[in-house]
Amino acid sequence: DVVDVRGLTSKGLFTYDPGFVSTAACESAITYIDGGKGVLLHRGYPIEQLAKHSHYLELCYLLLNGELPTPEEEEKFENTITHHTMVHEQLLQFYKGFRRDAHPMAILCGVVGALSAFYHDSLDINNPRDREVSAFRLIAKMPTMAAMCYKYSVGQPFIYPKNDLNYAENFLHMMFSTPCGDYQPNPVLSKAMDRIFMLHADHEQNASTSTVRLTGSTGANPFACIAAGIAALWGPSHGGANEAVLTMLDEIGEDSEENIQHFISRAKDKNDPFRLMGFGHRVYRNFDPRAKVMKETCDEVLKELGLENDPQLHIAKRLEEIALSDEYFIERQLYPNVDFYSGIILKAIGIPTNMFTVIFALSRTVGWISHWKEMVSGDNKIGRPRQLYTGHDVRDYPAK
Ligand code: ACO
Repeated sequence: DVVDVRGLTSKGLFTYDPGFVSTAACESAITYIDGGKGVLLHRGYPIEQLAKHSHYLELCYLLLNGELPTPEEEEKFENTITHHTMVHEQLLQFYKGFRRDAHPMAILCGVVGALSAFYHDSLDINNPRDREVSAFRLIAKMPTMAAMCYKYSVGQPFIYPKNDLNYAENFLHMMFSTPCGDYQPNPVLSKAMDRIFMLHADHEQNASTSTVRLTGSTGANPFACIAAGIAALWGPSHGGANEAVLTMLDEIGEDSEENIQHFISRAKDKNDPFRLMGFGHRVYRNFDPRAKVMKETCDEVLKELGLENDPQLHIAKRLEEIALSDEYFIERQLYPNVDFYSGIILKAIGIPTNMFTVIFALSRTVGWISHWKEMVSGDNKIGRPRQLYTGHDVRDYPAK
């Protein structure tokens, strides 16, 4: 028995594991990671093979259903997603309630949570059909809602989805088309966008996915759960990292060796809270397999756009070189993570920095909803972590 200060007892072994470094909170058959070997598998398929041969919507099907689709299943799935891309016109009022300078993540958190107010017809979490419809709605509407965050912030009219474009092209269309002219899709950039979606689609029990599971364990509806995941993703130690990479590059400023070395020294100084953003990972202690794919895509995009000599990108490359050969980073196994390169690609495509985490949220929605679905369709137990109490012992209220 564990006895707490009130003298109450509870049965069983009590472990204390801050940050859940070695405690599994659930069973899952969706994603496998071997951080030591740099392995990431979705339903058994290596991420490198998926990134090379598959595309985002096929990966969504795989994550949700456990198997790759047949050609007929794929066509049906893509049609269904395409036909759910519009959002309710009344949702536009939610956007208009925000200040124009609101962070797009603040808006996204709010509007995704608000979806539960629009879809009363699919909120029965015990009904498999409702769970499926909610998944379709979320995957289909996220690009529309994400692009609307951007359009609102720059004061431009919202752009409606176009059903003849693929998922990545459609997102870029809703971001960059205006009533004065349509964005012309570029295959290299659309492929890069699709890769960014794929490489962020799922990563087992990270902070935001665990948040979605914990929220969902109470029986909360899927839209509320995903809104909670978006809030958790926002932090700079998680999804905010690719935005933080660009902020760091801005802070480094001038592209000079002296400047770069100064920031490397700051990253090593234990009295300075500064960390090299986009380096290190809680699980990957060898390399991040997603970063390898992302680096290749980064080179393709920079070549396509003729940006190989951009000074800020030169700083990024130099940081990478130094970190890979410096004792401090080698000893601590700190390698560039996926967000180091995704930030650089997004900037090159013309996506503003404050939209980076929104794009991560859009991509991760399928992972969140797959974990939520796996949890609520199985033996779900409400999540209720214990604590190690460090406060006062019992004491009497002072007499007045
Ligand atoms: N720059 C400098 N030093 C670092 C960095 C960094 N980016 N990351 C870790 N370290 C150091 C720590 O100071 C610590 O040093 P010490 O052993 O001398 O005390 C050691 O490396 C281990 O670091 P921890 O904080 O224990 O590692 P943890 O697993 O808790 O943190 C994290 C992982 C949060 C990703 C961390 O590496 C970090 O803050 N990186 C920068 C932010 C970032 O890029 N986040 C994106 C993560 S990927 C994603 O969410 C998709």
